[in-house]
Amino acid sequence: MRLMAERDNGRYQCFLLEEGEIDAAITVITLDREDFEDLSPERQQEVWDIAENTLRSDTYELFALVDTQEDRLVGKAMIEYMDENMPEITALHVVPDQRGKKLINIPYEGCLLSLREQGYREAMVRISPGNTASLKAADRNGFESFTPDTGVDPDLCDHRFFKRAVSPVALRANMKPDTSTDGLDHAAI
Ligand SMILES: CC(C)(COP(=O)(O)OP(=O)(O)OC[C@H]1O[C@@H](n2cnc3c(N)ncnc32)[C@H](O)[C@@H]1OP(=O)(O)O)[C@@H](O)C(=O)NCCC(=O)NCCS
Repeated sequence: MRLMAERDNGRYQCFLLEEGEIDAAITVITLDREDFEDLSPERQQEVWDIAENTLRSDTYELFALVDTQEDRLVGKAMIEYMDENMPEITALHVVPDQRGKKLINIPYEGCLLSLREQGYREAMVRISPGNTASLKAADRNGFESFTPDTGVDPDLCDHRFFKRAVSPVALRANMKPDTSTDGLDHAAI
């Protein structure tokens, strides 16, 4: 696991999971689903395969948000490298009892750091128009609405698309005046 971002003097830490960390990957992937232990053996195998493929594949990166004080997984995120120019930050999740504390900024920061290190210039997220919490969080993290060049009429698809620049200069330019405490500054260093 590689530490990518942190907040509150290291209490909350965002880790990038690395190859071989299969148990951690299963825990992260199933965070917002049923308990792994409650699944049938067949379904457990499926989840195990998903976790292994996710860690091995160049198409995905998996991030865990941990509350180190409580020794507890409290969120997750992924990057999907489907579009070679504009990777997608996806699978964003914070556990229900920790929402509203802007913890999602930490996985956002971790993902943006990884993308910046790899030389990407832009990142996107897709959000359902009714998901107010996620829309607000994306806006706060510098994402702006755009129409992807997919040939699909945006009015006919279920999601809205948002993108932001990843480069350090644009990172600072995109900062909202009231968001300086959320750790994005660290990604720009
Ligand atoms: C979207 C999500 C990741 C945001 O995480 P978060 O750390 O709670 O984000 P924030 O603290 O920035 O809160 C975002 C908004 O949620 C709302 N919110 C505030 N407290 C909340 C609470 N206790 N419970 C739910 N939503 C709350 C507010 O509208 C807040 O915006 P504001 O602070 O600007 O008013 C989280 O709500 C979540 O996991 N949702 C379910 C999965 C999901 O929708 N993922 C995104 C898919 S695109």
